[in-house]
Amino acid sequence: MPETNKTYYITTPIYYPSSNLHIGHTYCTVMADAMARFKRLAGYDVMFLTGTDEHGQKIQKIAEEKGVTPQQHVDEIVSGIKELWKTMEISYDDFIRTTEPRHKRRVQEIFRRINEKGDIYKGEYEGWYCTPCEAFWTETQLADGKCPDCGRPVELAKEPAYFFRLSKYQDRLIELFEQTPEFLQPDTRRNEMLQFTKQGLEDLCISRSSFDWGIPVPIEEGQVIYVWLDALSNYITALGWPEETGKYEKYWPADVHLVGKEIVRFHTIIWPAMLMSMGLPLPKKVLSHGWLLLEGGKMSKSKGNVVDPVKLIERYGVDALKYFLLREYSFGQDGLYTNEVMLNRINADLANDLGNLVSRTVAMIEKYNGGLLAAPAPGGDGNLPPPDKSLAETASEAAAKVEAHMDRFAFNHAMEEIWNVVSRTNKYIDETAPWILAKDAADKSRLDTVLYNLAESIRIISILILPFMHTTAEEIRRQLGIAEEARWEDAFTFGRLRQTTVKRGAPLFPRIDVEKELEALEAMHATL
Ligand code: MSP
Repeated sequence: MPETNKTYYITTPIYYPSSNLHIGHTYCTVMADAMARFKRLAGYDVMFLTGTDEHGQKIQKIAEEKGVTPQQHVDEIVSGIKELWKTMEISYDDFIRTTEPRHKRRVQEIFRRINEKGDIYKGEYEGWYCTPCEAFWTETQLADGKCPDCGRPVELAKEPAYFFRLSKYQDRLIELFEQTPEFLQPDTRRNEMLQFTKQGLEDLCISRSSFDWGIPVPIEEGQVIYVWLDALSNYITALGWPEETGKYEKYWPADVHLVGKEIVRFHTIIWPAMLMSMGLPLPKKVLSHGWLLLEGGKMSKSKGNVVDPVKLIERYGVDALKYFLLREYSFGQDGLYTNEVMLNRINADLANDLGNLVSRTVAMIEKYNGGLLAAPAPGGDGNLPPPDKSLAETASEAAAKVEAHMDRFAFNHAMEEIWNVVSRTNKYIDETAPWILAKDAADKSRLDTVLYNLAESIRIISILILPFMHTTAEEIRRQLGIAEEARWEDAFTFGRLRQTTVKRGAPLFPRIDVEKELEALEAMHATL
């Protein structure tokens, strides 16, 4: 790993442990993981944070219905979530739970500091409350009298409570949206938030007394802190703020908060206003991604129409799922999930294109050269045969293009770029027809060169896919007999591979019988 002082702090939302996570949550975490791994490979000192948002009325209600304590409930779900991330090889650096003492005492400190700034006052709250979303809405924000986010009924709530002077920050927030476009992307979301803020921000109720599953308000007993104030704070409490300054000074402000589109409002209005009140720097960027939809609409744990990532991983493997999520969807837009699209993607890109390329190449090196990959025949750049030249160019130019796409979180285009190398390499096999070269001893040196070029291109592919599907990358390198650790900078030069001995392995991605799998997945869904 290169020496570096460049840091990169990326976060996912902290998930509600109301029930097990579905593929929609997995989508966000897979993107964050891919970016974290990509930045580490590029030499950054990365802090990748995820966690769980465990307080609030909804969790308390679920626990009551189950007949367990809220803590028992969240402990069980959170251990499942951690298990899922382990299975998926999610490389987070810290996992924050809002029920941890380190978080609770720091949130209380945040409340105190905002209070000391004169930004908290006691009042009486009356508003429309959506329990599933844990969100208060004003009359004007309701959609047909229902929650504008989830469309479910809201109830009128009234109780003594503390308020945060959010309205005080309206002008600074407008300025932020207008003058710092990179703060919130895509632009459509920024415009929405700008319009929302311009319509006028009301002060925010930040405590509740109708339930007690939350962090106590430090200045009055019987009140708990509003779950969003509690949750948003995780991005700095996990860094040890305020009393442990090391990580905070190193990583804050965050480079990017990755969030789903429905929680942009909390991250770009409430969170910056909290930070402004405390005089702390704002995150550099909030990036909003779209939703994975099912044919029946949004996946939702409460509606019961979810796709379980564990089931997919059991059948097709972690890397296939990661690849599919990164390749199929455009960042920022909603995307439709269907089993068929997923299965066809895995078959076409992974089993056929990548898997076959690797297995054919390794098999040919074994068959024609006893497994030994010989050095290429000498020949200056000037007189390379056209296919060799084109292959070397395509492979060595891909890394820079992948970097450019990753800068814009365009994971799908990054994947396309890598698969462009895969296709070019497959085409090279057709163009050079090694099985014909193998028939004539006079072509031995050309055959060696062709096999070398294939292996070399695959070496570059193994580096390019490393942030996205590292188990596959490592398996490819094992099959190619490359012992050294992959470094991103080694993807820019064609011709680095030294003599190796290849080792054939199991197919990277067995071909899927789509019809059969579709039936099996349907049957599984029926039993959910
Ligand atoms: N606990 C809050 C976040 C607090 S962050 C300080 C929360 N939790 S959540 O579990 O409901 O959602 C977490 C994230 O998952 C959100 O960004 C949400 O957009 C995302 N997704 C939930 N369902 C999704 C899809 N079907 N598709 C894509 N992302 C989805 O909100």
